[in-house]
Amino acid sequence: MKKILILNGPNLNLLGKREPEIYGSQGFEEYFESLKTAFSSEVQLSYFQSNSEGTIIDKIHEVGFSYDGIVLNAGAYTHTSVAIADAIAAIESPVIEVHISNVYKRESFRHKSYLAQNCKGVIAGLGLMGYELAVRNLLG
Ligand code: DQA
Repeated sequence: MKKILILNGPNLNLLGKREPEIYGSQGFEEYFESLKTAFSSEVQLSYFQSNSEGTIIDKIHEVGFSYDGIVLNAGAYTHTSVAIADAIAAIESPVIEVHISNVYKRESFRHKSYLAQNCKGVIAGLGLMGYELAVRNLLG
């Protein structure tokens, strides 16, 4: 069975409560349960969230040589982190960058991603559905 990790970065533990007009009113755990059920026969899905850059990097290293892919929403670290970009470049598993909101419709500092050039692809602005589409793509 294939293995895919969904990895969420800072402040995404507050999904459902945080700026619901931008990020929606569903918490991620609840969404993840429905995703896991939908894909249960095709892939072993796991989920990890951290607010810390180093912990996100550790997780990328941990799964990046054995998993079939990582769906990564690095939150604001997307726009700042050379270290996460280097971690993505260092591993073998493909990574898809996901953003719930359309970052290109928002402040200009959100238009720059340090990660995208090392990712298989980028999905932005499609809400939580972006995670499902990324998983589908990684399954090939
Ligand atoms: C986000 C967009 C980022 O700019 C922001 O810092 C986030 C969430 C998104 O999913 O739309 O924390 O990655």
